[in-house]
Amino acid sequence: MEDPQSELRAIAAGIRTHLEARARAGLLGVSQAPCPRSRRAGEVQADAPAHPAAQPLTDPADLETAFSADSEPLLPHAGHGLTLVRAELGDCQRCKLANGRRHIVFGTGNPEAHLMFVGEGPGADEDAQGEPFVGAAGQLLTKMIQAMQLARENVYICNVVKCRPPGNRDPEPDEVAACEPFLKKQIAVVQPRVIVALGRFAAHVLTGENTPITCLRGNLKHYQGIAVMPTYHPAYLLRDESRKREAWHDLKEVMALLRHMGLT
Ligand code: URA
Repeated sequence: MEDPQSELRAIAAGIRTHLEARARAGLLGVSQAPCPRSRRAGEVQADAPAHPAAQPLTDPADLETAFSADSEPLLPHAGHGLTLVRAELGDCQRCKLANGRRHIVFGTGNPEAHLMFVGEGPGADEDAQGEPFVGAAGQLLTKMIQAMQLARENVYICNVVKCRPPGNRDPEPDEVAACEPFLKKQIAVVQPRVIVALGRFAAHVLTGENTPITCLRGNLKHYQGIAVMPTYHPAYLLRDESRKREAWHDLKEVMALLRHMGLT
């Protein structure tokens, strides 16, 4: 058996080849100006993103630095990688949200999913159960996933912040700053091909664009070289059913993109 360093080098080389192939195929660096016309799935744009978080991940060095120097090395199995990220999070006290939480809500689903959904932060039901999107909004999300001909177990679901903000307020900048490295690591381990950003808050964090969700939604962006589709949060769809048509349009774009990538 090879020593762990050689194994890691071999994995990094494999990832480099994979990323280079994706870059050549135009599947990295998908980006778009604010509030443009709707993009057809699979259509790509070469313009450079303004936001520093939105650089394409084309170099394995980027991938390796997605893990901080003091964190665990990249491991071959995503399930194992997520276990390590969860272990690093531990009984997190990195921000004030630790004071009021019952459970850390880390994430759920397939650790090797092609598709990831990212919400804002746990609500009361999620805080009680320790799993994301299990309340009313979660039930709608499950239906949205099923409407995409997918199963909840086959995608990966998590939030920007892992602890419930009191009274379901927006997470504050210091809370996002404390938690975002873990979201980044989850993304680096799972390596989804497409991320659906659920709602204004997740969309702003993942795109770096402070644009209203009515404008952002439906327009492909990217985060760390991965395509991001912002859409409405299911909790918002429960409050305003008339928006469901647009959300369904966005999800159909994601389905088309996954098909274009040969993943469905
Ligand atoms: N809203 C979110 O953004 N995330 C959850 O997990 C539940 C509700």
